[in-house]
Amino acid sequence: MLNKDGKWDFDSEDSGKIQKELRNRDFLTLKDYTREEIEYLLALSSYFKDLKQRHILHDKLKCRNVALIFEKTSTRTRCSFEVAAHDLGMGSTYLDPTGSQIGKKESIADTAQVLSRMYDGIEYRGFGQERVETLAKYSEVPVWNGLTNEYHPTQILADMLTIKESFGTLKGRKFVYMGDARYNMGNSLMIGCAKLGLHFVAGAPEKYQPSRELVDKCREWAAESGGSVTLETDPEKAVAGAEAVYTDVWVSMGEPDEVWEERIRDLTPYKVTDELMNRAEKNAIFMHCLPSFHDLETEIGKKIYEKYGIKDMEVTDSVFQKHSKVLFNEAENRMHTIKAVMAATLGYSV
Ligand code: CP
Ligand code: NVA
Repeated sequence: MLNKDGKWDFDSEDSGKIQKELRNRDFLTLKDYTREEIEYLLALSSYFKDLKQRHILHDKLKCRNVALIFEKTSTRTRCSFEVAAHDLGMGSTYLDPTGSQIGKKESIADTAQVLSRMYDGIEYRGFGQERVETLAKYSEVPVWNGLTNEYHPTQILADMLTIKESFGTLKGRKFVYMGDARYNMGNSLMIGCAKLGLHFVAGAPEKYQPSRELVDKCREWAAESGGSVTLETDPEKAVAGAEAVYTDVWVSMGEPDEVWEERIRDLTPYKVTDELMNRAEKNAIFMHCLPSFHDLETEIGKKIYEKYGIKDMEVTDSVFQKHSKVLFNEAENRMHTIKAVMAATLGYSV
């Protein structure tokens, strides 16, 4: 439980209860987690971050192994799982998008049962949420969602930890997500904010807003936590008074190239620029899950420039560079939070 200083008391009875509840749980979407459970995971992340910074060993999960399935590419998530597993004393096996039988020669159900006999936990990054759910259904060990089209829950923990580190508290903060708010990042951030009592605003055109069903569910959680969920199509109104402004790429992994033209047309007004940031609070932070198209230093960035003549996409290079400290802290926090998820579900006791 958070004490009056906003610190987690790992010795309290409630903390012990949460620790037990999290053991052997899957981590597929934050919809399945309570506010207290999420707060516990954030506190555990800070605990591990402190140990890591002080070079104190925390390898209590020796003799355990985890399988990391990636049907889409990754830098942060893969590295976070590998480094975190190693720090906790575990071995890890990386299965890349082409190098295993999954889906092509072997069903997800069979794969889950095979890997459960060899590993203590399984990470999955891929396409539809139903794939990670099937994996979890047939797995005897915890399954962690490393990103699907619908959700990216480990990213949200890192984002919330970053906001907490930047401002000290989460509750009541105005958090604005700009761009395609109906995909994995928009959905998951809305859930995380609603559960933790932040005021979430989706700054997006009508057709890029999250589904009515998910918005209604999040509004119920927000009513309990003291937060709120607002859908806003006007980009200037959306960012007014924001304490955190967040965006993500306009075309996600696995989406066809044909959608670029429409996305550029529809989402350019929601690009995070200095002008928009000036409408946010003075000390507002800019956040992004990364990778980001903010310059011409990427293959895709160059191709888009040649075809459409734009030098940046969801955020300008100026905004990106001004906020780079927070952005790379956010990226680092992927590792500490993923470590907390693995540790808690595999029964690491603090
Ligand atoms: N933010 C994120 O998930 O990054 P990667 O795709 O590099 O894992
Ligand atoms: N929406 C992005 C997130 C990357 C971390 C994607 O799915 O590609």
